[in-house]
Formats: sequence, structure tokens, C-alpha cells
Amino acid sequence: MRPEPFAFRDPRTQPLPDTDAFRVYMAGDWGPIERRADVAAGAGSAARAHRAKLGEGFPGRTIVAAAGRAHVCSNDTEFPFRADSDFVWLTSCQAEGAVLVMTPAGAGHDATLFLPEPVAAGDDDAFYTDPLRGELWIGPAAGLADWATALDLEVRPLGALEDALDALPADTLAAGAPEPRLAERFAASAELAVALSAARLVKDEWEIAQLRAAVDATVAGFRAVTDEFAAAIEFGGERWLQATFERHARTFGNGVGYSTIVGSGPHAPTLHWTRCDGPVQPGDLVLIDAGVEARTLYTADVTRTFPVDGTFTPAQRTVHDLVERAHRAAMAQVGPGRSFLDMRTTAYESIVTALHELGILTVSVDEAMSPGGQQHRRYLPSGTGHHLGLDVHDCAKVGDERYLSEPLAPGAVLTVEPGLYFHANDLTVPPELRGIGVRIEDDLLVTPTGHEVLSAALPIDAAGIEAWLRR
Ligand code: GLY
Ligand code: MN
Ligand code: MN
Repeated sequence: MRPEPFAFRDPRTQPLPDTDAFRVYMAGDWGPIERRADVAAGAGSAARAHRAKLGEGFPGRTIVAAAGRAHVCSNDTEFPFRADSDFVWLTSCQAEGAVLVMTPAGAGHDATLFLPEPVAAGDDDAFYTDPLRGELWIGPAAGLADWATALDLEVRPLGALEDALDALPADTLAAGAPEPRLAERFAASAELAVALSAARLVKDEWEIAQLRAAVDATVAGFRAVTDEFAAAIEFGGERWLQATFERHARTFGNGVGYSTIVGSGPHAPTLHWTRCDGPVQPGDLVLIDAGVEARTLYTADVTRTFPVDGTFTPAQRTVHDLVERAHRAAMAQVGPGRSFLDMRTTAYESIVTALHELGILTVSVDEAMSPGGQQHRRYLPSGTGHHLGLDVHDCAKVGDERYLSEPLAPGAVLTVEPGLYFHANDLTVPPELRGIGVRIEDDLLVTPTGHEVLSAALPIDAAGIEAWLRR
């Protein structure tokens, strides 16, 4: 995080004249410009409901939450800023440096959002001297009134934050991104972090619409990527496919919700092949795990494994069929009243059975599933799903007991993603299966009667995938 206040002086430029004539010249004769807070329809009222939901658990308590700051890459360059997910859930605001204060009022809470003000022409010299805030450098930004209207929330300038924080009680609960002005006054509250994860477990209608949009854009992104297999084989390799998806994600969403995985041939069995720097060769299976993050920051998380020439080899198909069987069995466990653990246990048991059928594992299912066994994890090191929302691994702070064992409620959204990963140098695997990696990952919404596969537009079975590639 960059120091505050930030005082970078760029030695490459000529110093500015310290004269009134220069200041007047720089500040004057600028016409009006359009300002707009970029907030999706319905986002303000969704955030209002989220604050009320969280606040119910903390009557009489003051809550603060920070959006965070861009991380420095080097010197005066930064990584792209991405606001803290808890903060976004509470505000629907993505402004860097913003801080939310919720103070007890009646049975609930009042909310005030402290926001950085853009420095426009005529405000002060920072308009042209400050590369971080000056509009001559960063372009026109929404003003406080624009944000207040768009979010239907009281908004105050960030400059008033220190005094406001000084007036808050010492037992104020802090959440969100690390923020020095909060950290020096209030301890980060683990209780609040858990409550935020718990409150985010069940998505409301507005959030579900965001997730649908993210998944739909992701399915379209898979089409864009599979249309590029010939180019990937000819000259671009995994990089070409990664970049194709990411261009699509940036165009139709905010970007990607996590590091894209494109693993072709012997890279497919590597769970986190985010290097995406290898070739794509005829005969390869290519595993693509990619998600569009919507502009509201809700993300999809989808995986399919494709034969780049359009047809699975018999060995590839055998593995794909077994993963498909595990995937369908695990998805059948997703519904109201079932637990995350039901899904995970079924997925692992099905994978253990598959490993038996392939002659790779000889231990019993019970032994493999026991805490001291876990032999299948050599071939499936990861979990088999997770909650999904503003974070790809959503609601992660809710605690193992609740995450695993609490009955799933309608409105929960989770991935199911079993796989089999046979590394090229794994001597426990029959030679014809070495180097094959398959994952099938879908995004499921729990409904009152069962579940809906949000990513159902993508085929699950090998024949369906071959048909998708022919289209
Ligand atoms: N790509 C991250 C995940 O599947 O969880
Ligand atoms: Mn996932
Ligand atoms: Mn994934």
C-alpha cells in the first residue's frame, strides 16, 4: 500500500514555474465536463439492504469499513485497484480510499460514506500537480453529489474522515481492507469479518442477477476461446487463449475474477497453471478455468476441458467420463437442507471409485476417505467446490463448521468442480493416462426445490463438448 499522504515527485519532468501567471494559466478556461458515478441499476438499494442485514447482528454498535488502496507495483506505478469485497457488498461503491461509517440509529444504523473528492480545474493546484487526484492526470471523476445520488447514501469528503473517526466509540468494529486511519484507532474485528461472510452466504435477487450476468458472459468467453484453437496451435499457444478470454472479460465485464488457467497437454493436470505460457499442440486436451467478473464485481468460475482437435482420444474420454460421473453425482447433492460436505463427500467418493476402476488405487473407499488415508488427493489435490459471489472463494471467513455442515439455503451459490489430474511423470498411473488432466466446474444456485446450474449453457459430457466444438 502506498504511503499516505503520497508525495512522489517525478524527476523526469521540468519543474513547474512558481508564479501566479502560470497558476492562472493552468487553472482557467476549462469548460464544463460530464461527471457520473458508475453504479449499476439497483446497486444502491441492494447495498442498503445488505447494511440492514449486517446491522441486525450488531445493534448499538458502530461499524466502519474501508475500500482499500491500490498496491504499489514499483515507484509511482500501481496494480489496478480493486475495492474490498465486504466494502463493496455494504456500499456498491468501488472508489479507492473510501470509508463507510455505520452508526447506531433507532433499531438500526445510519450510514455515511467518506469519499475522495476529485480535484477539478479551479479547485487547487493539485488539478495539474497531483498524478493521483488531479483531473488533468486521471480524467473527470464523480463528485460527492454524484455518488450520493447514485447510491442514495449520505456522502462526505474524505478530508472530514479523521474528525469523524475521532468522535466514534473505542469499541467500534472495523472491517474491509487495511486502512491506516482505521487501524490506528480500532482493532480489526474477527467477529465482524465472520458476520460479513455469513451474511454473504445467501445472495439476494439483485446479486443473483449479477452472478447470472457474469456466468453468461463467461460462457460467451468460452465460445470466443474455443474459436481460437487453430490460432493457438499455429502460433499463440496458451497465452493466446488466456488473452482471448481476458479481452472478452474486460470488454463485457470488469475483467477476470481470478487468474485465468489455461493448461494444454501436460499442463492440464497442474491445478493452478496460471503461467499459461506453453504451446497448444494437436491432440492436446486443454483445460480452461476462467471467470468473467461483472462490473459490479460478482464473478463466475467455470472450467471445461476440451480436445483441441475436436475429438477426445479413447484415453482422454475415459478420464472425462469418470469426472463427468463424479460431477453429476456431486451436483445432485446440492439443494436446500443438504450441506456443502454432502457435495464434497460424494465427489471424493466418486473419484476414489474411478481411481479403483482405473487400477490406480487399491485401498477401500472408506480407507481413502478416512483422515489418515486421503490417497486420492494425489490425483485430486483440491477441494471440489466453494461458495461464489463477490469473491471467487466467497464467504471464506465463515468458519469450517458452518461452511461445511450448515444446510444450504436457497440463494446460496456454489461451484462444483471435481477433477482427475494425472501428471506426465506419475509412475503410479498407467502410461496411457499420464499427462491427462480433466476438471468440470459449474456454478450452481440453490433454489427452494433443488438447484439451478447457472452455467448450463456449456455441455458437461464428452459428446456434448465435441458437438460444442463443431458448432
Ligand atoms: N479457479 C479457481 C477455482 O476454481 O477455485
Ligand atoms: Mn472454483
Ligand atoms: Mn475455477
